[in-house]
Amino acid sequence: MKDFNFKIPQNIEFGLGSLNKLPEILSNNNSEHVFLISDRGLESLGVVAKVQAIIEAGGIKCTSYLDVKPNPTITIVNEAVALYKECGASSIVALGGGSPLDVAKTVGILAKFGGDIKQYEGLNKVPGPIVPMIAIPTTAGTGSEATASSVITDEAINYKFSVVSYETLPKYAILDPQLIMTAPASIAAACGVDALIHAIEAYVSKNASPFTDTMAEKAMQLIGANLRKFVANREDEEAACA
Ligand SMILES: NC(=O)c1ccc[n+]([C@@H]2O[C@H](COP(=O)([O-])OP(=O)(O)OC[C@H]3O[C@@H](n4cnc5c(N)ncnc54)[C@H](O)[C@@H]3O)[C@@H](O)[C@H]2O)c1
Repeated sequence: MKDFNFKIPQNIEFGLGSLNKLPEILSNNNSEHVFLISDRGLESLGVVAKVQAIIEAGGIKCTSYLDVKPNPTITIVNEAVALYKECGASSIVALGGGSPLDVAKTVGILAKFGGDIKQYEGLNKVPGPIVPMIAIPTTAGTGSEATASSVITDEAINYKFSVVSYETLPKYAILDPQLIMTAPASIAAACGVDALIHAIEAYVSKNASPFTDTMAEKAMQLIGANLRKFVANREDEEAACA
């Protein structure tokens, strides 16, 4: 067997209604003013307002940046960083699919260490812990809430690049299956296939280990048995939880 190591330095809350744990997590982490990063699609569904209300009901101030677009660009990252610095928040809540979550990680880097996001491209270029971040995924595909990666588009050269560092791993991830149940069938299907491909990639990787094989086998089993059911009926709680 090849040598391997693994670490998961993260707190993960899973469960229907687990979104309601957000104020407690924020106040345990001394967050008095949070910067919420999300997108207009989730705003129009009322999901952003729901999360803002939960934060504010906990007596915590909330400033929001909602202009993240799919495949987010450097311009979007820079706009969000400027607003973060101006508003005086001390932690970040990322709400959405991979796009808002990836923007949040890069905002956390630039707010703490400054510079241009391109200088952090590649592996382990982030010098230390970023702004504390809580990730609340609303799609079940990219896994960005539990990865050390963010993917940003350099629109000037039409090129997607990755920033990969354990320093960007969100401190907490709240996985509330209710949040993925608003997805239209097309997004549910595309994100489910994204998750399945991540599991297959891990399973066939030359760097696979007994630990990653265990995770990948269980993921393929759960996705295989539930993805079609979930796409056909997004109100199926059991399939959404899987
Ligand atoms: N960081 C990583 O490890 C990683 C891995 C793979 C992909 N990515 C990146 O993630 C991005 C793609 O993320 P994605 O596929 O999760 O989608 P996304 O975040 O780009 O969102 C796509 C659309 O879905 C909508 N949406 C999201 N959740 C919804 C919900 N519950 N109900 C209704 N609509 C909803 C959004 O409003 C948006 O219009 C790409 O930029 C990709 O490069 C990152």
